[in-house]
Amino acid sequence: MAFILTKISVWLVFSLLVGSFVVGTSGSDFNKDFQIIWGDGRAKILNNGELLSLNLDKASGSGFQSKNEYLFGQIDMQLKLVPGNSAGTVTAYYLSSKGLTWDEIDFEFLGNLSGDPYTLHTNVFSQGKGNREQQFKFWFDPTADFHTYSILWNPLNIILSVDGIPIRKFKNLESKGVPYLKYQPMRLYSSLWNADDWATRGGLVKTDWSKAPFTASYRNFKANNACVWSSGSSSCASNPQPSNPWLNQEIDPNGEKKLKWVRKNYMIYNYCTDAKRFPQGFPPECNML
Ligand SMILES: *[C@@H]1O[C@H](CO)[C@@H](O)[C@H](O)[C@H]1NC(C)=O
Repeated sequence: MAFILTKISVWLVFSLLVGSFVVGTSGSDFNKDFQIIWGDGRAKILNNGELLSLNLDKASGSGFQSKNEYLFGQIDMQLKLVPGNSAGTVTAYYLSSKGLTWDEIDFEFLGNLSGDPYTLHTNVFSQGKGNREQQFKFWFDPTADFHTYSILWNPLNIILSVDGIPIRKFKNLESKGVPYLKYQPMRLYSSLWNADDWATRGGLVKTDWSKAPFTASYRNFKANNACVWSSGSSSCASNPQPSNPWLNQEIDPNGEKKLKWVRKNYMIYNYCTDAKRFPQGFPPECNML
């Protein structure tokens, strides 16, 4: 009897350990971190919270938001975009605050006909003002597999990266009169919707509804290094630098090289070189990139 009990308890301890190990490494649980906010069943959390899928059909798109608000963070998510003919569809993945003078950091993925390249559209809004578009092509097929899209947002700068390769930075240039995103907590949002009035070739190519539903998938959300904002206080206040080195992280020389490589080979639009839009001169941050 004692022998059996011991065996059972060893097995119990073992399975508890394995259980916590599995939970610890699989990381994200969409049920815990997110809520579905629209789409009437078109957004689905699957595989015990490991996977989330957004769907779009002729009647509606769908979307979700983070339960937490953040004021600074290193936030990673893996996305697999709508495959095949995705023309007319837009998958948006962004941080945003609320109100008329909101802050926002955007990734938007503009679909295309099968075989034609997706566009990765980015923007940064500070205190309600955006007009800071930069667009990129991909160096891989973003529909074939999951890839990691990251936002590092700290008091010094915002760095957007794809698979660890920096594609864009927005420095804190408050000293030059450019408002910086550091006063308003932001929530993470994502949605898949129809934007065939502008998304693909400026609206010339329409969504082919015979291919619906369109699906984008998400996994491995990580915000271990993030300051969660709740009732007016930050989770980082009790655990400040230097235990949070990411809070003053910038791009290192190797990252700068990669950023240059992306800008040279994959950037297809940059507001900072679009003279037509800024007849009075470029915004101050354009001279400081
Ligand atoms: C779609 O493909 C066309 C043709 O290659 C390209 O001009 C366009 O920039 C691509 N992306 C979008 C979003 O229209």
